[in-house]
Amino acid sequence: MEKVTAPVITGKKGKEKISMLTAYDFVTAGIVDDAAVDIALVGDSLGQIILGYSTTVPVTIEEMIHHAKAVVRAVKHALVVVDMPFLSYQVSVEEAKRNAGRMVKESGAEAVKLEGGVRMKETIKAIVDMDVPVMGHIGLTPQSVYRMGGYKVQGKGPEARKLIEDAKAVEEAGAFSVVLECVPRQLAKEITELLSIPTIGIGAGPDCDGQVLVFHDVMGLSGSFRPKFVKAYADLRKSMTDAIKTYIDEVKEGVFPDDEHSFH
Ligand code: KIV
Repeated sequence: MEKVTAPVITGKKGKEKISMLTAYDFVTAGIVDDAAVDIALVGDSLGQIILGYSTTVPVTIEEMIHHAKAVVRAVKHALVVVDMPFLSYQVSVEEAKRNAGRMVKESGAEAVKLEGGVRMKETIKAIVDMDVPVMGHIGLTPQSVYRMGGYKVQGKGPEARKLIEDAKAVEEAGAFSVVLECVPRQLAKEITELLSIPTIGIGAGPDCDGQVLVFHDVMGLSGSFRPKFVKAYADLRKSMTDAIKTYIDEVKEGVFPDDEHSFH
């Protein structure tokens, strides 16, 4: 199977839809890769999903590198993209370059993703100029949760023009693709038709060039809260809880371990 690279992803536009899922550890990255997903994203959503923070804001570069290393060890086919966490690229272009370089150098990931459009244009360009592929991320940008006042659909009404400008800025800066998060379906379609790089939607409707979801949401592991755009393809939380309850019962009743699981 062909190794997926950043240029391969860009080349899929208009030819084949792109599949992307988050992966945060060796086991899930192996499962995602074996199923032949195009992109494994070490998302900073790991702050909430894996580490239990209430937002992605506290996630550090060290935490991202730690998880990305495990993902890289498992993945043979997919493109591995790692999120730049809050404060690793906002302070100055110089810091952003150093941190982007550190993240690919130390983790083995092949591209970085960062949030922001027009105001990140210079930063994206500087990172691309040192040969680190960049995936943009506009619309609902979770690291801006305090400014946005919550996780809300972006680009409604007069805000749409700003989002189009953001999308164009990310493309002009040299990004190889861009995530559109929680954007009205019609606006996502318009941006997708306008850009020559692929758009990867999450809560942005069916007309994007690809789709991304969080692994734990897809597998039904995230608990009862489920945003409108999430489709769970399995109910692993229930399967796992049932299996654990059976294990506990068997231990308590002395059914496990039986002869088959004992040494002689
Ligand atoms: O961190 C993440 O999981 C993401 C996706 C939701 C796009 O950025």
